[in-house]
Amino acid sequence: MKNLFIIANWKSNKTTQEAKEWFEKSLEFRVQSLENKEIIICPSFTVMSQVKQFTKHYQLPFKLGAQDISAFDEGSYTGDVNGKQIKEFAEYVIVGHSERRNNNKEDDLILEKKVLKAKEYGLNVIYCVRSMDDIIPKNVFLVAYEPVFAIGTGTPDTPENADAVSKELKQKYHIKNVLYGGSVTSTNVNSFTTLPHIDGVLVGKASLNLLEFSNIIQNA
Ligand code: PGA
Repeated sequence: MKNLFIIANWKSNKTTQEAKEWFEKSLEFRVQSLENKEIIICPSFTVMSQVKQFTKHYQLPFKLGAQDISAFDEGSYTGDVNGKQIKEFAEYVIVGHSERRNNNKEDDLILEKKVLKAKEYGLNVIYCVRSMDDIIPKNVFLVAYEPVFAIGTGTPDTPENADAVSKELKQKYHIKNVLYGGSVTSTNVNSFTTLPHIDGVLVGKASLNLLEFSNIIQNA
């Protein structure tokens, strides 16, 4: 059985109350076998502390990830959250998501700086690429292949293509683990995770609903 990463990217969703409700429904996780599955929840910074407490309270073996990291250290960078602050709560950080590339104009240079900052603070990077054309900085070991046409559209990439891209990324950059992301659901998840070069999934919309996310974990 290969090891799988199952990552929930909540994006800009959930108040504290909504995050609380998500965890309150989580009893079923306890009976699931998660032996080969690393579950990582990436909430907004505003609920990070609470999510950390909830995972403890409900004894869930989930790790936490941030959705972004400052390219700078602590200091006069209004609105930024730096690696030292993130490290208090999380072990992972998403860098290079296409929504940040598009909406926040994050380019290769800034993304490389973010990767360096993450490394400096001992955070594991989940580096997102839209295709083989995106450059992956050095020292990235976990990549998510997320074609833009598949994100939030209900139209995922074909598992065959996702597997072929994952294989190519591994060969080109010597990357250990490549995940697939884009319209993953409990129905299609195992068409991706059973393929040889795909080591898990990055889930957006379908992770917002606990039951659906729980089914994704089970079916992966
Ligand atoms: P989606 O988003 O699952 O809603 O398509 C995936 C992502 O953007 O990480």
